[in-house]
Amino acid sequence: MGSVRGVGTLLRPAAWTLNQRWDITSWLARWFPKTPAKSVVALKTPIKVELVAGKTYRWCVCGRSKKQPFCDGSHFFQRTGLSPLKFKAQETRTVALCTCKATQKPPYCDGTHKSEPVQKAELGSPL
Ligand code: FES
Repeated sequence: MGSVRGVGTLLRPAAWTLNQRWDITSWLARWFPKTPAKSVVALKTPIKVELVAGKTYRWCVCGRSKKQPFCDGSHFFQRTGLSPLKFKAQETRTVALCTCKATQKPPYCDGTHKSEPVQKAELGSPL
């Protein structure tokens, strides 16, 4: 009886490996979509933060972070295919970081949030 079980377990790993490979492929496709989602408007005004020289920051690109203007991992857990913008502060100073995600100078606010499309957009929606 023990030997019958042994044969079963010997055969299982090959089938399991094939299924596992298929599962990993679909898992990758789900968590890392080829076509990234659009960024959404998190807020319509920039957030002023004091950056510390030499420190690295991860600015939220997807607009889904609850820790604006910085990344909280939502881009990954919501399977957006987007990544945060990593940058290193060159000097210690207070800056306005974009939260509307429409700036042309990421991560800094360039005033685009004052434009009509951003002002008319709903929070949490893409432009
Ligand atoms: S908050 Fe995005 S451009 Fe000002």
